[in-house]
Amino acid sequence: MKNIAVLVSGGGTNLQALIDAEHAGEIKGGKICCVISSNENAYALERAKNAGIQTLVIKKKSYDNISLYSCAVRDALLGVGADLVVYAGFMTILGAEVVKAFPNKMINIHPSLIPSFCGKGYWGLHVHEAVLAAGVKVTGATVHFVTEECDGGPIILQKAIEINNDDTPETLQKRVMQQCEWKLLPQAVSLFCEGRIEVTGNKTIIK
Ligand code: GRF
Repeated sequence: MKNIAVLVSGGGTNLQALIDAEHAGEIKGGKICCVISSNENAYALERAKNAGIQTLVIKKKSYDNISLYSCAVRDALLGVGADLVVYAGFMTILGAEVVKAFPNKMINIHPSLIPSFCGKGYWGLHVHEAVLAAGVKVTGATVHFVTEECDGGPIILQKAIEINNDDTPETLQKRVMQQCEWKLLPQAVSLFCEGRIEVTGNKTIIK
């Protein structure tokens, strides 16, 4: 059984999707062992506690710089024996210290079809605002491995939806979450825990 650690900062709906999937037996070969939040007031912490999952709060402002903060998160992840680290709405780009400790063992969910609308500055509603401003006809979500390049690691799964004429950033965010993110993330986590994701360079093959 692989130990899954989930990094959160906010509402935690993606964490909830993982908890629900685990309870439904849809995460094959894995179990959420710990939820780490950068924000002591994150509702995601309540969701973890309600599910009986261990929680830790590691605040960025308690550390002098991002490198020290990254080391603290890395040490916590190693301390709980994480085999897989899931970024589920974690609002800090962690340094190389963490990526090096978990090579191809960290995954992130991003609310667009990478390589579009991703990288620095593309978070939350900003992603969906940019999608609507560009006038593209489809958007979606991507689960990918985390590397030192922001939103640049090998893509594991993607799902697309069509954009409606009357969409606002808010309606689009909601549909991308409901129809893409909450489905893709548990699927990708299960594939990882089943050992079905092969990484070759910047590509993955699902076996
Ligand atoms: C999601 O849109 C996710 O794609 C992004 O941050 C948001 C987190 O939402 N990385 P939640 O905390 O899981 O509700």
